[in-house]
Amino acid sequence: MDERQKTEIYEQVRTRLAALLEAEDDFIAAQATVVSELHHSFPYFDWTGFYRTRGADLLIIGPYQGTHGCLRIPFSRGVCGAAARTRQTQLVPDVSLFDGHIACSSSTRSEIVVPILTSDGRVLGVLDVDSNALGAFSGADQRELEAICADLARRFPRG
Ligand code: SME
Repeated sequence: MDERQKTEIYEQVRTRLAALLEAEDDFIAAQATVVSELHHSFPYFDWTGFYRTRGADLLIIGPYQGTHGCLRIPFSRGVCGAAARTRQTQLVPDVSLFDGHIACSSSTRSEIVVPILTSDGRVLGVLDVDSNALGAFSGADQRELEAICADLARRFPRG
């Protein structure tokens, strides 16, 4: 799928999300709706889910689609931990080359993890998308998933 096709699908997803979440004030309900819409819109999304920050340095599983994920991930571990710790999106074209990758599923080949950052610098959690294809994620995924997480942080600054 090229960048233009991806961008078109993301535009449709964001239009649907805006309508679905217009009157929603519950963060978990919003996250569940985001992962459902994303997961079923892209054939290369094989695991799509949120981890929520608990305490200073722990991520706990939130709403997701796919086979069961790791339940708890410290900030010190894995791609999800790196995104939460550095507050930067982690785009990993080949997970076998990422030092410390946590293999929740042996079929995962690439992934992208986007932190949910509030305007006052807190990390509410991360959005993790895993693919069974190598190099599945590109600049379009990063830009669009970051926009979705920024919207969530704006609407739900307390999580
Ligand atoms: N691969 C992730 C772990 C999360 S699961 O795959 C759902 C990581 O290394 O952070």
